[in-house]
Amino acid sequence: MNPSVPAALPILSREKLHALLRAMPKAELHIHIEGSLEPELIFALARRNGVALAYPSVQALREAYAFTNLQSFLDIYYAGASVLLHEQDFFDMAWAYFVRAQADGVVRAELFFDPQTHTDRGVPMAAVVQGLARACRQAHSELGISAALILCFLRHLSEDAAFVTLEQALPYREHIIGVGLDSSEKGHPPEKFARVFARAAEHGLHLVAHAGEEGPPAYIWSALDVLKVQRIDHGVRCLEDTSLVQRLAADNMPLTVCPLSNVKLCVFPALAQHNLPALLDAGLCVTLNSDDPAYFGGYLLENFVQTFDALPQLGAPAAYTLARNSLQASFAPAQDKTRWLAALDDTFARLAA
Ligand code: HPA
Ligand code: ZN
Repeated sequence: MNPSVPAALPILSREKLHALLRAMPKAELHIHIEGSLEPELIFALARRNGVALAYPSVQALREAYAFTNLQSFLDIYYAGASVLLHEQDFFDMAWAYFVRAQADGVVRAELFFDPQTHTDRGVPMAAVVQGLARACRQAHSELGISAALILCFLRHLSEDAAFVTLEQALPYREHIIGVGLDSSEKGHPPEKFARVFARAAEHGLHLVAHAGEEGPPAYIWSALDVLKVQRIDHGVRCLEDTSLVQRLAADNMPLTVCPLSNVKLCVFPALAQHNLPALLDAGLCVTLNSDDPAYFGGYLLENFVQTFDALPQLGAPAAYTLARNSLQASFAPAQDKTRWLAALDDTFARLAA
C-alpha cells in the first residue's frame, strides 16, 4: 500500500464508493477533445455548416460505433471531426465537454487537440486554438475548472508535417502547454518524431506521447528515451516487459490509462480483464481517463464507476491513489496541486471515514 493513502480506509458500499468517485477532485489528462463530439452535436454542426455526413441519422452514426481496433475507430473519429469549421464550433465542442467534466468532479482538464485534422481541410489554426482557448477560459471563470491545451501531432503523417504544424501553432504559444503524439500507433514509432519533440522542448512545451496502447513495449522505451516524454498515454502493454515496469516505477512516470477505450478498441476483452490492478500493484503512477468519451461509452466518472464495478478488488484506497496521481501528474501550477490535494483529503475524511 502506498504510504500516503489515508490509514484504514473502510470497505464502502457500492453507493458510497460511487459517491466518493464522483466527489473526489480529479484531473483528466487524456481526453481528445474531438473525441468528445457527441453524435447530436456532430449533426447540429453539420447542419449549421452545410457539411454532408455519410450517415443519415444520429442513431445510424451511433450504431457505427462498433470498433475492432484503433484504426477502425480513427476512421469514424476523423469523419466526425469534419463538421468543425469555425472558431465557434471548437468553442461549442469544448464547452459541452467542460459541462460534463464538472458534473464528474473534474478540477483540472488537459485537452488533446489534433490541429492537422482541421488545418489539412483548410481550417485556420487560429480558429482551432482560439475557439478551444476561449472555452478553457470560460471553464475556469464559470465552472471552476482549470484547463489547458496539448497539441497532438498525427503520427501517421510525416515529421515534416509535424514541424509545419508546430510552426503554425507558435503564434498561439501562450495557449498551449505541451505537445503529444496520437493516431495510428503501429508502424509509426516515436523515433519518427524525435526532432520535432526536441524543438517543442526548446520552446518550453511539456511532452507526452501515446505508446503501448496497441504498439509494443519498445515504443514506450523510445517515448521515454528518444522523445523524453513526461507522461505515457495508455502504456498498458508495459507489463510485457519487466525491466520497463521497473524503469517506469523508478521514474514515477505517469500512465494515462483509459479503461473504456481499451475495451471498445479490443485491447482487453472486458473491463474485468483489464490490467489496471496489476499496474497499481506494480507501483506505477496510474491515472484514469476517458480518451474519446463520445465514442467509447462514458466520460471520466463512468470510467471510474464501470471499472471499479468490474474489478471489486478496487476500493477506496485505489480511488484515492488514482485521484492523487492524476492531480500530481498534471502540468498545473504547484499551488493549485496543493489546494486540490488538500480538497482530496477533505473529501476522503467526509465520505470514506
Ligand atoms: N489512440 C490514438 N490516437 C487517438 C486516440 C487513441 O486512443 N484517440 C484519438 N486519437
Ligand atoms: Zn488517446
